[in-house]
Amino acid sequence: MSTVTSRQTTEDDITNAVLERIQGTPDPRTKQIMLSLVKHLHAFVKDVQLTEAEWFEGIKFLTATGQKCDDIRQEYILLSDTLGVSMVVDLISHRKTAGATESTVFGPFHRDGAPELPNGADMGIADKNGVPLVISGRVLDTSGKPIAGALLDVWQANSDGFYDAQLPNHDQLQMRGKYRTDSEGRYVVHTRRPVAYPIPTDGPVGAMLRATNRHAVRPAHVHFVVAANGYEPVTTHIFDFDDPQLKKGDTVFGVKESLIVKFKDHPAGDTAAMKGAKVTGPFVTADFDFVLQPAK
Ligand code: BEZ
Ligand code: FE
Repeated sequence: MSTVTSRQTTEDDITNAVLERIQGTPDPRTKQIMLSLVKHLHAFVKDVQLTEAEWFEGIKFLTATGQKCDDIRQEYILLSDTLGVSMVVDLISHRKTAGATESTVFGPFHRDGAPELPNGADMGIADKNGVPLVISGRVLDTSGKPIAGALLDVWQANSDGFYDAQLPNHDQLQMRGKYRTDSEGRYVVHTRRPVAYPIPTDGPVGAMLRATNRHAVRPAHVHFVVAANGYEPVTTHIFDFDDPQLKKGDTVFGVKESLIVKFKDHPAGDTAAMKGAKVTGPFVTADFDFVLQPAK
């Protein structure tokens, strides 16, 4: 047998050949991303000395993740969230000036088409057992000036820990509403006290959490997207300070200290605390001002 060289091909030869092949990518950002992705992916494979059987398991995992996705289930978002990638991307994408409300994970349960409700209207009527919660405050700019006409898109799980999309009658929108600030920048959301809940674990992400001995729970929170003309919208939550799950951590790493709010207890009939909402029985309130920074 005659060969040109007796030198054996190495792993780095393959890495360099792939990087070389990508050099002609016309779009500079695509080129940067692809070069870095290949470098890091190959480095990971070399670092752990991945076997063929393990790589095949990985491919099966990614295939199952795709197959689990449909209109109401987004397993890739869950994967990104539980690996902390969503929160790193969030931090890179939404640098905040001092005082602006911090953002957090969007999650897979937002739905378009929530009804616009008057301030104080109850978005939680579908939840018969939850503790009534009135969230109120203002939407401000970074100099403290109220923003009139800001839109708050609000959604949350019910007091059993399920989003409407997870219920048998998942076509119906529940536990969602849009509220607009008044001329003084004030808003009033009437809902139910959120509870900690597990993210869906009946798919590959659940298997990954079990394999790594991790819990699947998110601490109690209410989701908001707050938007106003001329300002950068913020996708965020408020978290309940008294939820014991806060100390055990969030399976998607979405908690930021500035978003934790102490809820106050009120007896039935405390109309001053209701802020115009019609609440029956004892209830809790949360005060929170959202601060938007100017659009870039
Ligand atoms: C949520 O809070 O709705 C959520 C966020 C990330 C993954 C799953 C659920
Ligand atoms: Fe949530």
